[in-house]
Amino acid sequence: MSARSAARALNIAVRQAAPKAARAYSLVAARRALPSAPKATRGVKTLDFAGTKETVYERADWPLPKLQEYFKNDTLALIGYGSQGHGQGLNARDNGLNVIVGVREGGESWKQAQEDGWVPGKNLFPIDEAIKKGSIIMNLLSDAAQSQTWKDIKPLITEGKTLYFSHGFSLVYSKDTGVEAPSNVDVILCAPKGSGRTVRTLFKEGRGINASIAVWQDVTGKAMEKARALAVAVGTGYAYETTFEKEVYSDLYGERGVLMGGIQGMFLAQYKVLRENGHSPSEAFNETVEEATQSLFPLIGQYGMDYMYNACSTTARRGALDWAPIFEAANKPVFEKLYKSVRDGTETRRSLQFNSQPNYREAFAKETAEIDNQEIWRAGKTVRSLRPDAKNN
Ligand SMILES: NC(=O)c1ccc[n+]([C@@H]2O[C@H](COP(=O)([O-])OP(=O)(O)OC[C@H]3O[C@@H](n4cnc5c(N)ncnc54)[C@H](OP(=O)(O)O)[C@@H]3O)[C@@H](O)[C@H]2O)c1
Repeated sequence: MSARSAARALNIAVRQAAPKAARAYSLVAARRALPSAPKATRGVKTLDFAGTKETVYERADWPLPKLQEYFKNDTLALIGYGSQGHGQGLNARDNGLNVIVGVREGGESWKQAQEDGWVPGKNLFPIDEAIKKGSIIMNLLSDAAQSQTWKDIKPLITEGKTLYFSHGFSLVYSKDTGVEAPSNVDVILCAPKGSGRTVRTLFKEGRGINASIAVWQDVTGKAMEKARALAVAVGTGYAYETTFEKEVYSDLYGERGVLMGGIQGMFLAQYKVLRENGHSPSEAFNETVEEATQSLFPLIGQYGMDYMYNACSTTARRGALDWAPIFEAANKPVFEKLYKSVRDGTETRRSLQFNSQPNYREAFAKETAEIDNQEIWRAGKTVRSLRPDAKNN
């Protein structure tokens, strides 16, 4: 029997043997639920990250029966059903936990939740009702909405409940957001390092997303333990301990920097100089974006920068080694400015101000359409149309 057919046979046996409530973490968890399944040998780990020792928690610390036992008296009330609500909610539900969803009745999320099998009056409620019914209140509204709705939500977070966030934003910048935690409840964070769609797809593949976990306020002495368990419940593979402050600073900084803002700025600057020097749009796009995303960046992702360098010609390598420090020196002051702007709350105020406007969706659509209409991205459409899987353009 090949390894693949053996695995398939095991999966079928597992599905038949495992009691329904114990089936989850997709197939990986189901395997663990079998009496004969090998005991998890991995657990909390102290790992060396380039010379610094850090503690990493992993899903194996919480075999499914233990997870279900831990939350057997809890109702997880997910408030908001956007990207994270969808991913975290479905994962926790598939893990056999008691989950309910609270969203605006009749809104977009209400419809979406129903499409995902949440039933009004059974496990789908208006926000205030869900909070009253829940013991763990998972505030997964958009950050601007958390601020707008807090005055109505706060009085419902009564003693004995646990308050959960997926971003440090609302509490760390409370002067700007107006969100202050009630003093008599545990307040914890699990921030998946990826979109809610990825939280869901990785879970379905039997893997798990990386997430940051933190405690803002520990009333019961169990706050960190709850954060670790909830991280697993919503689909985390590996959880890294941090603070609310560090989570939000690094998150806002990263997305404005290399992850999103910085990359668009670098691509555009390189493309424009090529065009100003007479290169065609296709050549400028290929040398700026296509080669990066299709060939070189995946190599960095797999094995690191030195591997990518070594996979390129000696000519390319020499130039990259010479120019990398020049780009570092040119960019560092920009990153310092950005970090300061995050720390002093400038980025938060800008985000709240913009995203609280009633027409924020249209305003975003207009700005992103402008990007889509830039020559570089219009040229990209034609380049992508030539790929074998051309429907992805
Ligand atoms: N998305 C990510 O990649 C990501 C990653 C990690 C952490 N996080 C964090 O996870 C949390 C949730 O983010 P998200 O991206 O999932 O949010 P989102 O997709 O923007 O979800 C928005 C939710 O908020 C509701 N909402 C918006 N305005 C509202 C209002 N005034 N009153 C009541 N409900 C309102 C929406 O309901 P309607 O449909 O009714 O408008 C929807 O259910 C945030 O703290 C975010 O920073 C997000």
